[in-house]
Amino acid sequence: MARDWGWWTEQKLDILSDYLAGFSKASIRAKQTVYLDLFAGQAENVSREPSRHTIQGSPKRALAVDPPLSVLRFFELPNNAQKLENSLRAAYPQRDLKVIPGDCNETIDDVLTELTPLNWAPTFAFLDQQSTEVEWPTLVKLARHKRQDKPKTELWLLCASGLIPRGLRIRGNLDPGVVSRTNEMFGTDEWFDALEATQNGILSGPQFEHELTNLMRWRMERVLGYRKTRAFRVMNTNGRDIFEMIFATDHDAGDKIMKWSYEKAQRQQPALRLRAKLSRLQAKEEERGEVGLFDAASLAPDPAPHGYTVVSDDKAPHSPFRGR
Ligand SMILES: C[S@@+](CC[C@H](N)C(=O)[O-])C[C@H]1O[C@@H](n2cnc3c(N)ncnc32)[C@H](O)[C@@H]1O
Repeated sequence: MARDWGWWTEQKLDILSDYLAGFSKASIRAKQTVYLDLFAGQAENVSREPSRHTIQGSPKRALAVDPPLSVLRFFELPNNAQKLENSLRAAYPQRDLKVIPGDCNETIDDVLTELTPLNWAPTFAFLDQQSTEVEWPTLVKLARHKRQDKPKTELWLLCASGLIPRGLRIRGNLDPGVVSRTNEMFGTDEWFDALEATQNGILSGPQFEHELTNLMRWRMERVLGYRKTRAFRVMNTNGRDIFEMIFATDHDAGDKIMKWSYEKAQRQQPALRLRAKLSRLQAKEEERGEVGLFDAASLAPDPAPHGYTVVSDDKAPHSPFRGR
């Protein structure tokens, strides 16, 4: 499983590059754009596939967008922030970029205050968390940042609906730390009804995961007031989520560009899987000293991919599951 993590991450970042290119072109008349990367990571990462190729992280992808995004703010924990700052400053000395060290839930206020003069400009926030690091008030602040006559800050959030149930240990004694972080991320404990229904066998594991993503989309639309949300879901064959990316926008153009980016990613998935498979076969051959002997037929894309399914879901969210 871990080996394939590389191409999922790459696929997510390819969607980001595609979306930001469209976002920037669609915003040309505004002349200014703002990009906020709340979990910025590193400038570059190495694929876990045997090819070990370099994957440019979200900061460099955002900086590579053409036409260029004008104002970029990257949030990272202190241990990683300095390295990221050095690398970005060296590569892009002329750009209006800053790396803000610290917990983004705490540093967000100062950054949004600094950006108040630009609260009319098209603004996109990427929230590429690992599990449940983002707190609901941060999403509220982002959603309220823009002037009321302008579309809200667009949000693109990683919702780890497949990881949360494992972290919670729903089949045993619940982990109170994960319960509390899940409440903080959703800004509510409404997901608890679906959890109890799953523990009682009323909902299946995949249904519970779906309820988690649905609740986040529902709250983005009904509480934060976004006009439209859509989810991009990567699942294994048992129907279990690996992760979901949720997009929230007020803008028809934004929704169209993300729909196109998601559909492109769906079409490219077999090619990415094929490349991962090829890279593994080559690595095995090299281990055996048999370079160039792999069977090309075995590299054909699977007619029915056995590993994972990618779904682009724009059906409107339903009201959260209620057991009581
Ligand atoms: C999944 S990685 C981000 C990957 C990155 N977007 C990329 O494309 O390469 C999540 C990052 O968030 C950082 N992080 C975790 N908690 C954070 C927090 N509360 N505030 C800011 N950064 C955080 C971690 O150090 C890690 O580098």
